Amino acid sequence: MKLLGIIGKPVENSFSPEIYNSFFKRIGLPWRYLAFQVEKKYLKNLVVCMKLVDLYGLNITAPYKETVLPFLDRLDPSARESGAVNTIVRRGNRFIGFNTDGDGFCNALKEQKKIVLKGKTIAVIGAGGAARGIAAALAKRGAKNIQLLNRNLYKAKKGAAHLKKHFPKTRWTALALTLKNLKKSFTTADILVHATSADLKLPLQWLGPKALVCDIRYQKGLTPLLKAAKKEKLSTLDGLWMLAHQASLNLKLWTQKNIPPGKLLPSS
Ligand SMILES: NC(=O)c1ccc[n+]([C@@H]2O[C@H](COP(=O)([O-])OP(=O)(O)OC[C@H]3O[C@@H](n4cnc5c(N)ncnc54)[C@H](OP(=O)(O)O)[C@@H]3O)[C@@H](O)[C@H]2O)c1
Repeated sequence: MKLLGIIGKPVENSFSPEIYNSFFKRIGLPWRYLAFQVEKKYLKNLVVCMKLVDLYGLNITAPYKETVLPFLDRLDPSARESGAVNTIVRRGNRFIGFNTDGDGFCNALKEQKKIVLKGKTIAVIGAGGAARGIAAALAKRGAKNIQLLNRNLYKAKKGAAHLKKHFPKTRWTALALTLKNLKKSFTTADILVHATSADLKLPLQWLGPKALVCDIRYQKGLTPLLKAAKKEKLSTLDGLWMLAHQASLNLKLWTQKNIPPGKLLPSS
């Protein structure tokens, strides 16, 4: 038997245990995936704890995607470039950090919306681990302008400066989350990505009629933001698609199997 899991605070709303355990059961793999709520002060012992209980792999959720970086043995370029880890893979006795949030999001966007990211202007709301992973993957695919709007401006500036070093061809802007900045950003954005851990009410009326609204927060049924976007007759992308695509990438890393993301959507 192999043991995998997710750590964060809180973790009880994560759909990941349901997704992975039902998948393992379906294919007859005797693996288990558990959710652990963890205090920040214990993260420095992460690798020792993983060895102690023989954990084979781990997902990291809010608010620890950036915090865990220094405690891992090695970082994949996806984690180094974004400055955030959402997946840990065990190779022998070494624990390697990856970021599959960004590729998961972009793969979902490509599959569901057939969008070409080259040349696009994108407003990302949030500057936490998920926002960083997504912004890096958007830049890697040629996004022209990426605006990071965050409540804590320092965090947006720090994120934009890190990402600019790895993706200098993209124009990076860091803005505080004010109505004035939202208006400035939304009037030029092709795509809006909401990546905070709160259900924010955003002034969608300032987006152009062809703009796409992506909410990476997910629930069974539409989030309040996606409901509002539909009212404005805007195109939308549900965060459940990102969840399924990043789960498919994680399973490839953990099991070497190619699993179609459509088979990993949680049951409604
Ligand atoms: N669909 C998926 O597959 C998927 C994948 C990853 C994450 N997610 C979801 O994405 C969300 C963010 O995850 P994360 O790992 O990036 O979290 P995180 O690192 O803790 O970052 C949280 C972000 O939310 C902002 N925020 C929190 N409360 C806020 C509020 N009341 N008003 C404005 N901004 C607020 C924070 O702003 P400050 O910096 O100002 O505090 C920060 O930018 C979570 O809900 C998570 O479940 C979904």
